[in-house]
Amino acid sequence: MGKFNRYLITAALPYANGPVHIGHLAGCYLPADIYVRYLRSKKADVKFVCGTDEHGVPITIKAMKENVSPQDVVDKYHKIIGDSFAAMGISFDIFARTSAPIHHQTSQDFFLKMYNDGLFEEKESEQFFDPEKEMFLADRYIVGTCPNCGNDKAYGDQCERCGRTLSPDELINPHSALSNAPLVKKKTKHWYMPLQNYEPWLKEYIVDGHKEWKNNVYGQCKSWLDSGLQSRAMTRDSNWGIKVPLPDAEGKVLYVWFDAPIGYISATKELTENWADYWCKDDTKLVHFIGKDNIVFHCIIFPAMLKAHGGFVLPDNVPANEFLNIEGEKVSTSRNWAVWVNDYIEDFPDQQDVLRYVLCATAPETKDNDFTWKDFQDRNNNELVAVFGNFVNRAMVLMHKLCGGKVPSLHEAFIEDTDREMLKEFGLAKEKIENSLENYRFREALAEVIEFSRKGNIYLQQNEPWILASVIENLNNGTWNEKHDKYKGKTEEYLRARIDISLHIALQMTANLAIFSHPFLPFTSRKICHLLKVVDRMLEWDNAGSDKLLSVGYSLRAPELLFKKIEDEQVTAQVQKLHAGLKQAQEAAAAAAPPAEETIPAPAKPEIQYDDFAKLDLRVGTILQAEKVAKADKLLKLLVDIGTEQRTVVSGIAMHFTPEDIIGKQVTLVANLAPRKMRGIESQGMILMAEDNGKLIFVNPAEAVKPGSGVS
Ligand code: 2FM
Ligand code: ZN
Repeated sequence: MGKFNRYLITAALPYANGPVHIGHLAGCYLPADIYVRYLRSKKADVKFVCGTDEHGVPITIKAMKENVSPQDVVDKYHKIIGDSFAAMGISFDIFARTSAPIHHQTSQDFFLKMYNDGLFEEKESEQFFDPEKEMFLADRYIVGTCPNCGNDKAYGDQCERCGRTLSPDELINPHSALSNAPLVKKKTKHWYMPLQNYEPWLKEYIVDGHKEWKNNVYGQCKSWLDSGLQSRAMTRDSNWGIKVPLPDAEGKVLYVWFDAPIGYISATKELTENWADYWCKDDTKLVHFIGKDNIVFHCIIFPAMLKAHGGFVLPDNVPANEFLNIEGEKVSTSRNWAVWVNDYIEDFPDQQDVLRYVLCATAPETKDNDFTWKDFQDRNNNELVAVFGNFVNRAMVLMHKLCGGKVPSLHEAFIEDTDREMLKEFGLAKEKIENSLENYRFREALAEVIEFSRKGNIYLQQNEPWILASVIENLNNGTWNEKHDKYKGKTEEYLRARIDISLHIALQMTANLAIFSHPFLPFTSRKICHLLKVVDRMLEWDNAGSDKLLSVGYSLRAPELLFKKIEDEQVTAQVQKLHAGLKQAQEAAAAAAPPAEETIPAPAKPEIQYDDFAKLDLRVGTILQAEKVAKADKLLKLLVDIGTEQRTVVSGIAMHFTPEDIIGKQVTLVANLAPRKMRGIESQGMILMAEDNGKLIFVNPAEAVKPGSGVS
């Protein structure tokens, strides 16, 4: 534990605007739960907090879509989400809500302290205003004609017909989605946090102070800090949210990303009167588990808020995961391309650990990863059933058959090298699992658990107690099976001792497996405890690695299978369900949208000779950095690694991608295009893009290649 005496572990507060899907679980809730269960088993002082994020535009949009009040939306989904987590064994100490009075109070106090300390800038800006509803509108509430495809129902942030990202200023004939009234621009005042003032401190805190953070997290923070921070509004015009606690702030609420992370504080307050120990004492380790889209808020904005307010500990780590795709495609809630946790629980009752296993074994810890139902089946059948479950079952069945249902003795005089080696593995496995868990490498830790059971299977195979039993039978009835020749001359005492030793060790391994697997597979671990007739206290981490968990002569329960096979039909049904959900969503969207106009393919260009083509120096590069170009809505400044050098490229893709989305992506660069100045920046090349009905897609190799690889 080192310098820390207590832990506060948070998992991102999900928006209460829909159920959670398995991408959410894999992204942060499952790794957080594994970590917390491990800490608890070490008897650490730990609190695990979460809750629903019930403010902001996502909630009001859902309310508008469902034609109900925002309150109805959050009440409904708080329950659904909370139930899904509980069913999956995500063991929060509290699952709070940002609509709770204690949260409103805590957020307002936080804001006021910063306000009174003079830490906000007050600024006026022009925003779209609905004169009929007498309110300012978030981008989503503004509709107009898409400048790209002519859809007259495009939103102020995106056209859902052609997919293009928009800003409200680009819409032709912008009007209100609420009243249909044409919009006017009106001045509005907001309170901004000058993040640039915290830049030197943030660099010290993250760039110098937390080099151990995961590469994806550290890299994204560094890129933000290198591109320079700007003032960011911490309030919004809305009637849904936490009121700005100032006299001249009618109709203004706290920005959802201001209040949401304060939710971690208010949830802790609701949980325990000792909340300040967890938030204000330096020997607390604060760890935020999140998905990659939340990195900037948890690593830059929230720490800056905590620092500005003063008196709080800062996150010690923010182990963010990347995204989990489904069957090769990005999860999309609007397209209904997702595996919903509540559906899974209905379709696979009592198989929570299978999903926990697969999601941890394939967790997108360092890069986006893919979930497929086939892989789900394979991992269940080939790893859980055939390795882990098989080992525990063999140990239990053989002990009942050959040792009278009791833990057999470990006859010291007959111990051999294979036993000693196996026993050594107990401590080694514990060390490896512990080390991986402490460093947030959950996949690696879980692989080690399976490896331990695999070694158990090999050990049983080598020692073959069932064969020894039949050799004893041969000795007693005077027959011989020549297959057993290697045991010729062995005494019955020796053979009996060898049976007992191998099963004694296998059972002690089984008890260890209950401890090792508990953070990952809590339901299975409990089942093993039941079979072994041991109480939960055995699951304490201090017991891991011990070869004396079960006493000789202790009688154990009858074997029960830990896992069952998943059949092909189940896989087919799930894949069909995914596609049916997608189709349904498409039909609903088509019914709501006007028919798409036929798009005219770009006219063909005149024929060229090979020599014309050969003049192009096309190379694959990797985007190292990306940032917005000041005062140019459409431009991103990229730094692209092309092996031999790094090129600065200015590209007109800012409406289609956010900088953090594209860092690390491979692109094809026209490397010998004459440099060109754009907004004062020299662009040293051009990136190739495919355009599909207004949507831009990078042209890149089907597999990652070395930066600088030529394209011909
Ligand atoms: O991205 C999201 O779903 C946000 N609701 C996460 C908030 S995390 C924290 F700040 F509350
Ligand atoms: Zn469009």
